Amino acid sequence: MPAKILDGKALAATLRAAVKNSVAALAARGVQPGLAAVLVGDDPASRVYVRNKVRACEEAGILPAISPAKDVDGFHAVNLGALVQGRPGFVPGTPSGVMRLIDHAAVPVAGRKAVIVGRSTIVGKPLALLLLQKDATVTICHSKTADLASITRQADILVAAVGKAGMITAPMVKPGACVIDVGINRLPDGKLVGDVDFAAVKDVAGAITPVPGGVGPMTVAMLMANTVRAAELALG
Ligand SMILES: NC(=O)c1ccc[n+]([C@@H]2O[C@H](COP(=O)([O-])OP(=O)(O)OC[C@H]3O[C@@H](n4cnc5c(N)ncnc54)[C@H](OP(=O)(O)O)[C@@H]3O)[C@@H](O)[C@H]2O)c1
Repeated sequence: MPAKILDGKALAATLRAAVKNSVAALAARGVQPGLAAVLVGDDPASRVYVRNKVRACEEAGILPAISPAKDVDGFHAVNLGALVQGRPGFVPGTPSGVMRLIDHAAVPVAGRKAVIVGRSTIVGKPLALLLLQKDATVTICHSKTADLASITRQADILVAAVGKAGMITAPMVKPGACVIDVGINRLPDGKLVGDVDFAAVKDVAGAITPVPGGVGPMTVAMLMANTVRAAELALG
């Protein structure tokens, strides 16, 4: 049986409608939430830009200069530290969007094996912490991981966040697993694809996110939600 498609576009639209209501409520109190840099859509060039921006800021030590209270990307050391400690803070949009998708699809997490391929600061590591908070047993894989397929095959929840088109193939997936594809890759013919070989994996997985229309719209929706929350917190 083909996998259930986890429609991030539809869920993101619901979240954005809720955000819109919050913005209206804030406007009634005389506050207009603002965001210095807004990333909308699935354009890989924009993603690369943001990723490079984060890396450049990390290298330059610029990020700590940003107030953690306005760090709606959740990249500030204070917010990442809060995530490690399980305290409230701003969580990066992509991992929190992934958690919302998993939750919305009622995919069991507690006691299940979650494997994340990719260990970036904006996706892999924070997502591992969020899954851990929900009592998953988490493994993080990366470019030096030996025999990747033997590990991914154990995953009840498999997340690909690498940036390599089609690298997760059907034999790497446990039948019935929930497969979350964070990757965004542009093929030479201009087509956008994820890190997962969707056509083949959808016949093995129990649930799967498409690219585009899966994690990407959720990231944007969560960023909007964080922005409104920052404005609400600023109001007190
Ligand atoms: N959908 C969205 O909203 C969204 C948001 C953010 C990013 N993305 C996309 O997600 C992908 C990953 O982004 P990122 O910023 O997390 O990437 P990144 O910082 O480039 O990290 C990529 C990770 O993949 C690992 N890796 C590379 N080759 C591998 C291999 N052959 N086997 C196993 N692991 C391998 C790397 O390992 P090492 O650490 O050992 O180098 C690294 O940890 C990109 O396609 C990006 O465009 C999408």
